[in-house]
Amino acid sequence: MQSIIAERCTVCHSSSPTHPAFAVAPAGVMLDTPEQIKLEVSRIVAQSVTTNIMPLGNLTQMTQEERDVIGQWAENGATIQ
Ligand code: HEC
Repeated sequence: MQSIIAERCTVCHSSSPTHPAFAVAPAGVMLDTPEQIKLEVSRIVAQSVTTNIMPLGNLTQMTQEERDVIGQWAENGATIQ
């Protein structure tokens, strides 16, 4: 689960984004660590499972399968191993 976030989200949502358009994390949302991810579970689901607003323009080409994995993970208590 964390690998999906790392691959699809942290290019922008990081303390040091690698996406050239962002010098700082957009909306202040950083998803670098398990702790940060846990704090944002409800917003992660709202933005990338309930709706497909994120990833922005799906620039990182997140798949429906990955959205389903995140939805399941959140439903099952959002544990990070
Ligand atoms: C290409 C850069 C980019 C990627 C990749 C990206 N985001 Fe975003 N994200 C943004 C921008 C820009 C905003 C601010 C948009 C706004 O406020 O209208 C944002 C805002 C957000 C917010 C705050 C929205 C709110 O109002 O609650 C969340 C949560 C979020 N993104 C989650 C994610 C998740 C989860 C992923 C991966 C599945 C992701 N983002 C991938 C650029 C990105």
